[in-house]
Amino acid sequence: MKMLDRVRGYSDGDVDTNHLGSRTLESMAADRYSRRQTLLGSLQATAAAFLGTGLLSACDLDLFGSDGDNERFVVSAGENATTSAGRTVTLNGDVTSGGTASWTQVSGPTVELQGTGNSVTFLAPGVAAPTPLVFSLTATPANGNAVTAQTTVTVNPAMLGFEAVAKNRNDIVTVPAGYSVTVMTRLGDPLSAGVSAYANDGTDANFAQRIGDHGDALHWYGLNASGAREDASSTRGLMVQNHENLNVQYLHPNGPTNVGAGPRPEAEALKEIEAHGVSVTEYRDGGDRQWIWVQSSPFNRRITPNTTMAINGPARGSAMLRTAYSTDGTQGRGTINNCANGSTGWATLLTCEENWAGYFRRPNSGTATDNAQRTAAELTALRRYGVTSSTGNYAWSTTAAASDTSIFRRWDARAIGGSALEDYRNEPNQFGWVVEIDPYDPASAPRKRTALGRFGHEGAWLGRLTAGQKLAVYMGDDSRREYLYKFVSSTDWSAADAQSADRLAMGDKYLDAGTLHVARFNADGSGTWLPLVFGQVPNRPAVGAEPAYVFADQADILVNARLAADAVGATPMDRPEWTTVNPVNGEIYLTLTNNNASGRPLSDTNAANPRHYNDPKGSSAPVPDPATPPQPTAQFGNPNGHIVRLREAGDNNAATSFTWDIYLFAADSAEADPANVNLFGLTADNDLSSPDGLWFSRPQNPAGQGKPLLWIQTDDGAMTDRTNNQMLAALPGSVGDGGVKTITNTGQDGATAQQATRVGAPVSTATLKRFLVGPRECEITGVDSTPDGRTLFVGIQHPGEEGEPNAPSSNWPQSQAGTTSGRPRSAIVAITKNDGGIVGL
Ligand code: FEO
Ligand code: CA
Ligand code: CA
Repeated sequence: MKMLDRVRGYSDGDVDTNHLGSRTLESMAADRYSRRQTLLGSLQATAAAFLGTGLLSACDLDLFGSDGDNERFVVSAGENATTSAGRTVTLNGDVTSGGTASWTQVSGPTVELQGTGNSVTFLAPGVAAPTPLVFSLTATPANGNAVTAQTTVTVNPAMLGFEAVAKNRNDIVTVPAGYSVTVMTRLGDPLSAGVSAYANDGTDANFAQRIGDHGDALHWYGLNASGAREDASSTRGLMVQNHENLNVQYLHPNGPTNVGAGPRPEAEALKEIEAHGVSVTEYRDGGDRQWIWVQSSPFNRRITPNTTMAINGPARGSAMLRTAYSTDGTQGRGTINNCANGSTGWATLLTCEENWAGYFRRPNSGTATDNAQRTAAELTALRRYGVTSSTGNYAWSTTAAASDTSIFRRWDARAIGGSALEDYRNEPNQFGWVVEIDPYDPASAPRKRTALGRFGHEGAWLGRLTAGQKLAVYMGDDSRREYLYKFVSSTDWSAADAQSADRLAMGDKYLDAGTLHVARFNADGSGTWLPLVFGQVPNRPAVGAEPAYVFADQADILVNARLAADAVGATPMDRPEWTTVNPVNGEIYLTLTNNNASGRPLSDTNAANPRHYNDPKGSSAPVPDPATPPQPTAQFGNPNGHIVRLREAGDNNAATSFTWDIYLFAADSAEADPANVNLFGLTADNDLSSPDGLWFSRPQNPAGQGKPLLWIQTDDGAMTDRTNNQMLAALPGSVGDGGVKTITNTGQDGATAQQATRVGAPVSTATLKRFLVGPRECEITGVDSTPDGRTLFVGIQHPGEEGEPNAPSSNWPQSQAGTTSGRPRSAIVAITKNDGGIVGL
């Protein structure tokens, strides 16, 4: 049969797929019997095309005889083939002569066929297990008798479709072969027409109209061509990014002035204040994923520590939130140290206030302290939250301003006026919240959602939205020995609210009333959500010289959520960072970035924070670096961190119990003890330290379906002798896919201790692989994609953070294009696959 030569068959547009090597038994059988090739006029053959392989084995190619009459019109649908989720598949049919061929799908998850005629393409859907998709090709010759042939494409679950990036300390963003990096908005880029381009020499001002510093978590909100909200848009949208902190040395010509005792110059302090907060910037695909940002978009916005905000929820109006600016405690100014984030089902952003305590001047001792003017309860709360700085991070309160002095004075949190309404003693209580922003309405005032509690908020990720179930928001408190929290709404989710035009009113509905809980992890792999409800929470017991803390009301519980969590016996964790939720099975992941020996001593591990060990630093750095000492530095505790995951009882957001295991132990593969530290056998292709950012691919594309991709970003200082910070892609299993393990921990003096824990299934390079390494001294933080998954946005924070104004230690992002000069700038990069495919697959 000559027609066999004509079978071009399937091809995979995304990766090199060896058809012979990847073929199924079925495809081999099909080749032998050519069951997808149908001869005109042959009833038997048409029937055969729809039969299974087993029956076909009873046929052979001689069935139709060899006289040649029936071979004049042949429809071939090509070989059966195998692919994996997210790959582009081309169906190449063939018709020997005449007729118009057309493809249709016969069975399997519905896909959209692109193109017409013999050759069409489709995107392999996300699947959890191998899934056959059957397609038929039909052509009709002149005699009018349609002829149909079939082919089967079996789609496997997602695979990591890239070569691991090697650890390195280069001054660029390194991505796998076949990918490209576009630098998007950078520190200082202008967000309004008429604002000058960023000089990047310390002379720039007006950060209320420029991209802020230390870009952190980010999120994409789609726009359609006419500028209205369109969640599915992958070509035009709003990039909302947090600006956590400052590389302050680069913001001024020769670094900041008078940082110690002050007074800080007004222009410097204003610039530093305004370089914090949140930015909204319009991004556009200029064609074929050539990304640009729009300086003059009417959507562009800067939210700064000076932006007016409403206080919502149970603590609204509380005496604890009243200040000289907000004498009724219902309003506040701004947001600060915005770290990770969350996004709601009604298209608003949740930005999270993390290390806000250090910005305030309130020495805990010495002549400048206000201890004598504070109640015992206030002092307990201030110490518990670390509001104990002698000047505040940047000494802004020392500014002797010509005009509105309160924007500087507010950073002095001492009780120095006649009452709380005459000073800013309560200003620290206005921070530490989750703040909701409507990215589509630049005029809207953000709302602080006090029902979600006040602590060092890393992020606020929603559980899956299920009609008729309550909402859950999962939140880490990033400090050593702090806790994991969950907010459960009072109101059941109604899907109709997703498209509400009054988005902040939806926030009022779901985020202003509900119950805050804190997690206790039990040794047997179970866990309990402990409600933080006034009347149910006991007084916080006395600690040392501090008396017991007696809660006054629910507002007190929320303002002092850490004290309430102490009182109910929550589990102290190794610095809870980002949370994220598997969109397919609803499991919750939490990064525990690291802990030191005093935060996690040998004698005080627990099942969910089970390691205490040493990771020496500087012993065998691959690249000579004057900053790396020749002798290794001991790092005891849990210096590399781990990732824990939870599954709610009954998969219900409102569950009061859960199961958990440890998904991943980070480790330095070159020297970690494989039995007790590098428990999953990480290799040079996937070792990491200090996981922080954590995000599952969006469920609108195959990377977030079936077996979704998990992205892990690092904020590490423990393994930076081997590599700059990095991002990995993973394909995790589920809670309980491993087993129990007992770890032998070793302390600084050689003493050992045993700790039992629950571990997930081991990882391999098939399920965890390094995707990106950042430039020098950066942190990788912030990740989202366009809904189609074909552009990944990643935040590069504080490159060159150790450098000097006139001797920067990184030149990124200029260095991305080969220029090795200029001050470093935090920036977002857009990462695309050169063949236009889904990033990571
Ligand atoms: Fe802002 Fe915990 O990282
Ligand atoms: Ca090491
Ligand atoms: Ca972080």
